Amino acid sequence: MKAEISSSAVAELSPLDEARFGVRSARARLVNSENLPSVLDFCTANQVEFLVARCPTTDIAAVHAMEAAGFQLMESLLYLRFDLKTHPIPKNQSDVLIRPVQPNEVSQVGAVARAAFANYYGHYHADPKLDHRKSTEVYVDWAERCCTEPAAANLVLVAEAEGQLVGFRALRVNSPLQGEFILAGVNPEFQRRGIYRAFIIEGLKWCREQGLKEVLNSTHVANVAVQRACLQAGFEPAYSWYTFHKWFPQAAAAFPAERKLRGKPT
Ligand SMILES: CC(C)(COP(=O)(O)OP(=O)(O)OC[C@H]1O[C@@H](n2cnc3c(N)ncnc32)[C@H](O)[C@@H]1OP(=O)(O)O)[C@@H](O)C(=O)NCCC(=O)NCCS
Repeated sequence: MKAEISSSAVAELSPLDEARFGVRSARARLVNSENLPSVLDFCTANQVEFLVARCPTTDIAAVHAMEAAGFQLMESLLYLRFDLKTHPIPKNQSDVLIRPVQPNEVSQVGAVARAAFANYYGHYHADPKLDHRKSTEVYVDWAERCCTEPAAANLVLVAEAEGQLVGFRALRVNSPLQGEFILAGVNPEFQRRGIYRAFIIEGLKWCREQGLKEVLNSTHVANVAVQRACLQAGFEPAYSWYTFHKWFPQAAAAFPAERKLRGKPT
C-alpha cells in the first residue's frame, strides 16, 4: 500500500475497505460544504478510488454540494440515545441466556454475522459497484474483530439458545460518560423471539455498571426491528447522518466490466 499523503485531516485512508474490495479507499467522517474541496483534494493526492463520506442530515448544503460532485446516497443512519441517569432499565423477560463471548467462540460469532447480514441493506450492500458477498464479509470481519481486538469493542455479549450461539451484541465505551452499541446480529432462525431486546437490556445494565451516563445506538433508518426494540426500552431519537459513496475516475480501471454490470443486491 502506498503511503498516505496527510495533506488534510478531513479524510483518512481506509485499509480495511481497501483490503476487502481491492480498491484504494478512504473515509471522510464529517463532510460539509466548506471542507468538501479539501476532501476531494485528499482523494486526488492519495489516488483514492472509493470514498465513504458522512454528513449530518441537517446539513442540506453539504448534501447538495456532494450531489453536485457526483457522490451517491447509500444509507441514512438514525442515532438513538438512552439516558442512564433518568431512565430505568426494563426487566429482561427473555429466557435466552445472554453472556460474554468466550475466546473459542469467535468463528461462531462470525457465522451468526454472516447469516444475519447476508441480505442486509447497509451502505456497502446498497452500492451496486461492490460485490454483495464481500459486503457481507465486512460485517463478519467486524464482528470477529469485536471479539478479539480491544480497540474494536469493550464487550461482546452472545445469546445461547437450544445449545447453540444464536446472536451477538458488541459494545464500546466511547468516553467515561458514553457507551455505544456498535454491532449486533441474530441468526435468522432465531429472530423475532426477543433476543435483540434482551441484548439491549443486558447491554444497558453493563453500561450502568461501568458508571456510564448515556448509551448510543445507531441504525439504518429502515431497520424497524432495532428502532422498535430501542424505543420500547426507553431510547429516544437523537440525530441522523447520511452515508454517501463517491467513485473516482481512476476506479474505472480497477473494475472489470462484469463487476460494473453486477446484478442488484438481493
Ligand atoms: C435486527 C435484529 C438484530 C433483531 O433481532 P431479533 O432478536 O429478531 O429482535 P427482537 O425479537 O428482539 O424484536 C425486536 C422488535 O422488532 C420487531 N422485529 C423483529 N424483526 C423484525 C422485522 N424483520 N421487521 C419488523 N419488525 C421486526 C419485533 O417484533 C420486536 O418488536 P415488538 O416487541 O414490538 O414486537 C435481527 O433482525 C438481525 O440480526 N438483523 C440483521 C442485522 C441487523 O440489522 N443488525 C442490527 C444493526 S447492527
